Amino acid sequence: MRPIVVSSAALPFDITPILGDVTYVAPARGELGRAELMDVIAGAVGLISLLTVAVDEELLAAAPGLRVVANFAVGFDNVSLAAATRRGIAVTNTPDVLTEATADFTFALILGTARRLVEGDRLVRSGGWTGWEPGLMLGADVAGATLGIIGMGRIGRAVARRARGFDMNVIYTSRSRPGDAAATLAELGARAVPLAELLASSDVVSLHCPLTPDTRHVIDATALAAMKNSAILINTARGACVDEDALAQALLRGDIAGAGLDVFTDEPAVHPGLLACERVVLAPHLGSATTTARRRMAEICAHAVRAVLDGRRPPTLINPEVCS
Ligand code: DGY
Repeated sequence: MRPIVVSSAALPFDITPILGDVTYVAPARGELGRAELMDVIAGAVGLISLLTVAVDEELLAAAPGLRVVANFAVGFDNVSLAAATRRGIAVTNTPDVLTEATADFTFALILGTARRLVEGDRLVRSGGWTGWEPGLMLGADVAGATLGIIGMGRIGRAVARRARGFDMNVIYTSRSRPGDAAATLAELGARAVPLAELLASSDVVSLHCPLTPDTRHVIDATALAAMKNSAILINTARGACVDEDALAQALLRGDIAGAGLDVFTDEPAVHPGLLACERVVLAPHLGSATTTARRRMAEICAHAVRAVLDGRRPPTLINPEVCS
């Protein structure tokens, strides 16, 4: 019998040539519901999971033959890594291939929020635009502004490179040492600072950290109060890095000037207070949504599954402990 590989969702690319001699189970469109997934996973050796799937104790217990979880994302906060590792299940993600796409999208949000692009679009479409005015929708300059990056990993660095081209000053906080990236960061003039300094002196604060217990609500009421009234917040990381209640209130009070958000705590639901804010640009988690990036993410997942089935170590393995 051919090994069964399940994808929790329909993928827009055909990965079956890479998966090779397996039975590939995926919905024709959309995502499998939890009950359906629990059902089909029972006999599977491989799972390709979207970030919307909780790969937890319950799911793993329902799949006694599972050998690999290939998470279709660079972030893997949806996967219970400890539970997978305990069961000897390899977990992989999709780093690198989405870095540039996500950094580009971050800049789209920075520019769109600072220059009120979406508000302007709404005004024009509504027929409410009465002509050029010296005071119409004044935004903030990006050139010369200070960009505070929280999380200086691959995506944070790609954003810092773009910021240089826009004549921004870059400061950052990072939990890991820059290592090989130190020279690049120095060349970009990016300076590591404590979080309090970053919040107080940035015109744009942009989140690029993974969601962990340490970064959950890293932007909370206190952090927002520490930001400049003229500052904007950009989030392309994970919704729960921000306390959305506190953000909605801070925006309402004018404690900060605006926000560009691609991710939300309870996707696809969006906090009503954020929906009500004019100065918030909202995107449906599009950071990595280019054809090339998403195709490469799909290929990485398929190659990772194939590697494990062939007894090879997948290059994007997150829990190398399973190899021993
Ligand atoms: C990720 O990869 O973690 C993004 O959120 C989706 O591309």
